Amino acid sequence: MHFVVNGDQVDLDFDPRTSLLDMLRERLHLFGSKKGCNQGACGACTVLVDGERINSCLALAVQYQGREITTIEGLGAPGALHPLQAAFVEHDGFQCGYCTPGQICSAIGMAQELSRGVPSFVSDDVSAEAFVLTDDELRERMSGNLCRCGAYNGIVDAIRETFCVGDVQPTKQEAA
Ligand code: FES
Ligand code: FES
Repeated sequence: MHFVVNGDQVDLDFDPRTSLLDMLRERLHLFGSKKGCNQGACGACTVLVDGERINSCLALAVQYQGREITTIEGLGAPGALHPLQAAFVEHDGFQCGYCTPGQICSAIGMAQELSRGVPSFVSDDVSAEAFVLTDDELRERMSGNLCRCGAYNGIVDAIRETFCVGDVQPTKQEAA
C-alpha cells in the first residue's frame, strides 16, 4: 500500500484492519498523534488529510492510500515552527502536551473549514457565505478536542492570534 505522509512517499504492508492512527504510530513511528480514547471522543489523534481534519483512530489506513496525510511532525520543526505552534508556546496553550498535536492539527483544519464557509452548530445563519470566528464559534468548532489539563484559555488565545486578527475569518493562505 502506498501512502504520502508529511510529503514522504511510503510503501507499507499491514493488516487492512489497521487504523490510520496505529499505522502512523506503530509503523512510521510518528508519535505526535496521540491515542487518547481510541473511539472518536477526545480529538488527540486528529490529523489532516488533504487539508481536512479527521480522527485518525476512527479511520482505516487503507482508505487513505495516495492522499496527503499531515501530522504534527509535518507542520513544523524546532527552529521552524508553524505560526500556530509558536502561538501555543507564547500563550501557554498546553500543560502536559498530550492533546496539543491534535489541537493544532484540528485548529488548522477548522481554519480551512471557515475559509470555505462551512457553518457550525452555533452559526446564526447557516447559509451565510462567511463566518466571524467569535469565541462561541471557536469553542464550538474546537469542541471535539478535549484538554484534560484545562489549558483552554491559552488554546483559544493561540488560535485567535493566529487566525483571527481583527475578528475576520482566516484567508486560505493563513489556513494553510
Ligand atoms: S484517540 Fe481518536 S478521538 Fe480520541
Ligand atoms: S495540555 Fe494536557 S491534556 Fe491538554
